[in-house]
Amino acid sequence: MTLTGNWSYPTAIRFGAGRIAELSEACAQAGVSRPLLVTDRGLAKLPITQAALDILDAANLGRGLFAEVDPNPTEDNMVAGVEAYKAGGHDGVIAFGGGSGLDLGKLVAFMAGQTRPVWDFEDIGDWWTRADAEAIAPIIAVPTTAGTGAEVGRASVITNPATHVKKIIFHPKILPTVVICDPELTVGMPKSITAGTGLDAFAHCVEAFSSPHYHPMSQGIALEGMRLVKEYLPQAYADGSDIEARAQMMSAAMMGATAFQKGLGAIHAMSHPIGAVFNTHHGTTNAVCMPAVLAFNADSIRDRFDRVAAYLDIDGGFEGFVSFVQQFNDQMGIPRKLSDMGANPSRIDELAAMAIEDPSCAGNPVELTVENLKELFRNSM
Ligand SMILES: [Fe+2]
Repeated sequence: MTLTGNWSYPTAIRFGAGRIAELSEACAQAGVSRPLLVTDRGLAKLPITQAALDILDAANLGRGLFAEVDPNPTEDNMVAGVEAYKAGGHDGVIAFGGGSGLDLGKLVAFMAGQTRPVWDFEDIGDWWTRADAEAIAPIIAVPTTAGTGAEVGRASVITNPATHVKKIIFHPKILPTVVICDPELTVGMPKSITAGTGLDAFAHCVEAFSSPHYHPMSQGIALEGMRLVKEYLPQAYADGSDIEARAQMMSAAMMGATAFQKGLGAIHAMSHPIGAVFNTHHGTTNAVCMPAVLAFNADSIRDRFDRVAAYLDIDGGFEGFVSFVQQFNDQMGIPRKLSDMGANPSRIDELAAMAIEDPSCAGNPVELTVENLKELFRNSM
């Protein structure tokens, strides 16, 4: 089987090794003739980014680059990006990178034509309808990791630089118009990032599958996403140049993000404040939290994870799945406890107060409270 395809679900996706060569065609497909490539500072220096700019240059699309993007993108980054977009006379954005480059690129395209502050578009009720949809610039997304799935998402996460709180900004039109998924762009990821990002994709599938809302399409996507991570993450971790494993992980990442329209849960509700307070890696933090959350949700998810275990060829039903998760984490060098990552148990009250405000709480199959979140944090420390 050749791991190449042109997909139109959930958006237009050019999938396959070497397809970054089609970047100028992707711009034409999105109606963009003067793109601004948005990425983070670290990636801007790497050959894959320079090669992408060369492709644009060769097609007379310029070499517009904005890379003043922090690992957790802030409003300041976004304002600077919008200024660069306007100053360069751009008509679309290439969001290039891992979560930070993708999220900030999407926000620059979104905010370039808006007059209200970004916080007016937080993912609350129908706040997104406040935006001028016609003024949103087209987005071409090029992921260089396999985890966040932001390339197929309709939201971006941005940090308020004053409060350090992360907010989700939502609009259906920040779903990229075209995505190029080229697994060759992910081969340079170090082992720890391969593991952390891959386990973020896994957590998206597990939490979407656990969420009690009715969405059978998401259920199917999450199930196959879990299988791809189980089969291919160990291969990508062991040999970063294994293109088949890298390609399957890129699919799993998009599947996780597509599936979690159904909801996330306690893993992400815990992981967001821990990341904000202790600056830990998002996907790695999720992986550490997962065993305690599975145990906490056990009675509500046992039946459905019996089916997952059968599909994933894991003996022992739900209990077997829980054992598998711990062994999978160990195999990938994930710490056993949040305290091993620098999280401090003395701040559990503060973490629980932040977690209960996280929108991910709504998708957990057992209702979350400040008290049971404290217990979950204690069990993960
Ligand atoms: Fe995540």
